[in-house]
Amino acid sequence: MRRLTVRTASRTYPIAVGRDVLGELGGLVMKTRGAGQAVVVCDENVAPLYLERVRRSLADAGLAASQVILPAGEQEKSLARAEELYGVLYDRGLRRGDTLVALGGGVVGDLTGFVAATYQRGIGFVQVPTTLLAQVDASVGGKVAVDFRAGKNYVGTFYQPSLVLADLRTLDTLPPRELRCGAAEVAKHGLLAGSAVLRRVRQLVRAPLSAAAVTQELVAGSIQYKAGVVERDERESGLRAVLNFGHTVGHAIEAATAFRRFSHGEAVALGLHAALRLSRELAGLPEADERMGHELLDGLGLPGRLTKARARDVCDLIGRDKKAGQDGVPYVLLRRPGFPVLGVRVPPELELEVVEWLRER
Ligand SMILES: NC(=O)c1ccc[n+]([C@@H]2O[C@H](COP(=O)([O-])OP(=O)(O)OC[C@H]3O[C@@H](n4cnc5c(N)ncnc54)[C@H](O)[C@@H]3O)[C@@H](O)[C@H]2O)c1
Ligand SMILES: [Zn+2]
Repeated sequence: MRRLTVRTASRTYPIAVGRDVLGELGGLVMKTRGAGQAVVVCDENVAPLYLERVRRSLADAGLAASQVILPAGEQEKSLARAEELYGVLYDRGLRRGDTLVALGGGVVGDLTGFVAATYQRGIGFVQVPTTLLAQVDASVGGKVAVDFRAGKNYVGTFYQPSLVLADLRTLDTLPPRELRCGAAEVAKHGLLAGSAVLRRVRQLVRAPLSAAAVTQELVAGSIQYKAGVVERDERESGLRAVLNFGHTVGHAIEAATAFRRFSHGEAVALGLHAALRLSRELAGLPEADERMGHELLDGLGLPGRLTKARARDVCDLIGRDKKAGQDGVPYVLLRRPGFPVLGVRVPPELELEVVEWLRER
């Protein structure tokens, strides 16, 4: 098991990554939170697979454990569901010293974290991420939120957990498409971090992507990269924007295709292709590095061509990005792998040209 420590202004806490480590949860919760009640929140897909092991581990460590099982899906990240959870916690008499355990993907993590942050102004929060995306991205960094009307993550806050435990064995049951979506974020971290993280991501593409190929070093390296960014900028006042690499075009593609044609990770892969091409045109990224990036994403089995959306519509949506200012959206581009540049303005003609190119790749 690899242990990392995240040190932010608001809290210092451990992230443990390993294979077959779910059984360690109880002991780790005892150590970081102490005795008390633990309520495990998970969805109906994850419950039959991992809930029993988690409950047993908590009980063996002497914690009083109970659970809440929700339907699966993004629609669960709602204020209505949060209110329902507040009711459960109230009825079970949870106090500040007690702990909510999020067992599942980013949906369960974001919702549970939001409830933990707000119930009695903040109770204990532990993350047990079970998707690759949640392990390397959603469970790291303390952003918690629910969706509101058309706004994704519109109501939320920053709330760091007391502990994150990522068990790579849980990825064995993940549908392949979900695994690929997580791989897109791992590729993003690799390109931003360069060096060892990028080398490990590139090793993934030697064979068709499988959970068995996802190593502890790869996941730990990816987490370490994101945690390092968050440590320096917990509340996204500057540097954290680097994590938007590939997301400016990616988010617009998700919206232009009504969140149906592409999953988040797939749209991000397309956004990364666009960002790589723009990096060569505007930030001096060598052609060989650009090509390496495209091959990496294609090799992970992520979609490489934009379909079911007009380039003009995607560009209109880029202009409506939350981060857009008077003179357009500031892009994150790469000078070299490991050397991102923030706040690059992209001329509208070039933006359109690159999105057109995505349709023809
Ligand atoms: N807080 C952040 O910083 C942050 C960052 C990125 C994404 N997010 C959020 O994360 C969410 C997406 O997370 P996600 O991709 O994990 O989606 P998800 O939570 O919906 O999980 C994807 C699917 O996999 C199932 N599943 C989860 N673990 C499984 C396992 N081990 N075996 C089999 N099935 C399993 C789930 O039931 C679900 O059907 C979005 O809501 C997004 O906004 C948050
Ligand atoms: Zn993302």
